[in-house]
Amino acid sequence: STAPPPTRRLSADDAGLEQAAALIAAGRLVALPTETVYGLGADATDPAAVAGIYAAKERPSFNPLIAHLPTRAAAMAQGVFDAHAQKLAEHFWPGPLTLVVPVAPGGTVCDLARAGLDSVALRVPGHALARDLLARVGRPVAAPSANRSGRVSPTRAAHVLADLDGRIAAILDGGDCPVGVESSVVACLGGPPRLLRPGGVTREALAAVLGFPPETGGEVGARPVGPGLLASHYAPRAGVRLDATRIAPGEAVLLFGAFRPEGLAEACAAENLSEAGVAEEAAARLFSALRRLDASGASVIAVAPVPEAGLGEAINDRLRRAAAPR
Ligand code: TXA
Ligand code: MG
Repeated sequence: STAPPPTRRLSADDAGLEQAAALIAAGRLVALPTETVYGLGADATDPAAVAGIYAAKERPSFNPLIAHLPTRAAAMAQGVFDAHAQKLAEHFWPGPLTLVVPVAPGGTVCDLARAGLDSVALRVPGHALARDLLARVGRPVAAPSANRSGRVSPTRAAHVLADLDGRIAAILDGGDCPVGVESSVVACLGGPPRLLRPGGVTREALAAVLGFPPETGGEVGARPVGPGLLASHYAPRAGVRLDATRIAPGEAVLLFGAFRPEGLAEACAAENLSEAGVAEEAAARLFSALRRLDASGASVIAVAPVPEAGLGEAINDRLRRAAAPR
């Protein structure tokens, strides 16, 4: 059998951006940096290209994708925005917020990217290179996190290549992703806004703009609105044990702040998300720390408690999914 064609590494300059845009416009898969995590991008209007995303990720096809646009105006043309959605878009775009809204009558995001739903997930990334690329493509770009389905999300080019080298046409290397956890997903489908997935915009920040806190959970009526929000996700190879206050010999340990679990000296590896206990720093380091601890070969990663405030909610959400039964 022949080896797969290698994945091209494109640099973050004019030539790299032009090649990345041309590949996406031609229906190919290109990984791109955003402020949250790397995305696996394809033309969201082209069902064959979108099918390529599901295949490369080995992602269940019932899981809908986020369409990325370069400007607020371009994103708002794809959906129907009620007063809440308009407020959130004005305040948080560009930035780590995804809005799930009803599809606009002239919307061009294909059925497969929406997994057949009559809503669409839209995002304007707060990463200048990503917006430059999106403007050059000139069409919505579907981009889930650029990892194999169920695995740890990538925050640097090497993470993407570890999962997808040879499966995608190219990667645009933009260095490390500054936020480090995915966007917050908020559904505005009539009625009160719902936080379907905590992420880079905190619940507190959403509440400050809305004037009230968003509802929580993925159900609108009888229909699950976040079919992709599977319990087990973000999983390293090792098992994950939460709220560890005592370490068993040979475990790998994920620390936060100054807290030191008992038995730490017998750990086979340890990483501190933030010595100073700052949630923003911890989020930015979360996925690479999990990958490094996984590489230690330990069979269990023990995680010390992380406070729930601010970005702590998104960090704990990812850790709970990493620990969920597989
Ligand atoms: O930060 C991010 O959001 C990254 C970067 C690349 O932009 N993308 C990302 O995409 O995390 P993904 O596919 O891993 O997560 C998309 C989430 C899933 O949980 C999916 O179920 C939800 O958004 N979603 C997408 N369309 C939806 C819809 N129409 N209704 C409800 N949930 C939807
Ligand atoms: Mg993902």
